[in-house]
Amino acid sequence: MKDSWIKKGFVDEPVDSNVNLVDGIRRLVKEKNAVILAHYYQEAEIQDIADFVGDSLDLSRKAAETEAEIIVFAGVHFMAETAKILSPQKKVFIPDQMAGCSLADSCPPAEFEVFRKEHPDHMVVTYVNTSAAIKALSDVCCTSTNALQIIQHIPANQKIIFAPDRNLGNYLNSLTGRDMLLWDGACHVHEEFSLEKILLLKNEYPEAKIIAHPECQGPIRVVADFIGSTSALLNFSSSDPTMTYIVATESGILHQMKKANPDKLFIPAPPKDSTCACNDCKFMKLHNLRKIYNTLKYEWPDVTVPEEIRVLAEVPIRRMLEWS
Ligand code: 13P
Ligand code: SF4
Repeated sequence: MKDSWIKKGFVDEPVDSNVNLVDGIRRLVKEKNAVILAHYYQEAEIQDIADFVGDSLDLSRKAAETEAEIIVFAGVHFMAETAKILSPQKKVFIPDQMAGCSLADSCPPAEFEVFRKEHPDHMVVTYVNTSAAIKALSDVCCTSTNALQIIQHIPANQKIIFAPDRNLGNYLNSLTGRDMLLWDGACHVHEEFSLEKILLLKNEYPEAKIIAHPECQGPIRVVADFIGSTSALLNFSSSDPTMTYIVATESGILHQMKKANPDKLFIPAPPKDSTCACNDCKFMKLHNLRKIYNTLKYEWPDVTVPEEIRVLAEVPIRRMLEWS
């Protein structure tokens, strides 16, 4: 690989003008026995060329099950890392290495290890939006889809540390009546939604239902008609009879919502700062078709996890898959 690729974190090579990217990607997928897994927050064109589109739980299950030799993960780094932890014998690639996660970054391993040691009688439950090093310090992982199920699986008298998302943690405390000790982390996208602007939209569309991801702040969750993970929001919007929704999560999910419900209206919840596209995850949106094509062609950037961390991190992920 070239130094310039390493510096940029992706294969920066031109693609021949006679190559149609969609056809080229599908040809390489077939030739190399690869699979493309894409999160719901990816650009629509990436969701449309993927072999499988899902939320973080669906994608970790797919990564554990796939028989393909190569996984190209169109999502953020912790998701690709989870795929590598579960399938170490496979080659796992991420089209742009810079696709991080502000929530995962809000929980640095050295500080978290100190915190954990200060509370040795607590069980450690971590959201999958964490690095492999944090997973290696955890007893069980969860995603927003199975978080409630995982917490309910733990005896009521067992003390719990929940990390890193304080909003999801508060939400789970309110649902279960527990008093989990929360790490003070958050996601830059879900913390940015404006309650005031959502309520103005609700005035304009009184029939609309507000649907929100549990990573949103408390006041947004209070006004929401439905709270759920990315796939729960998608399922709700398909099964519910309402025709208009204000959607408080990353805007990529609107692609599948509109596809499944072409007659319904989906309005992305506005961020506080109207000059930014803050309801787009800037990390998720780093991938594009050219980077995916080049990743398949040059088999880079690959995702690696040191074996001593991988074996420890695998335990809480497998436990999560068993419990949910
Ligand atoms: P899901 O668990 O709903 O896929 O959410 C992942 C995520 O990154 C939310 O911001
Ligand atoms: Fe991380 Fe937030 Fe992006 Fe999800 S939306 S990947 S939590 S930064």
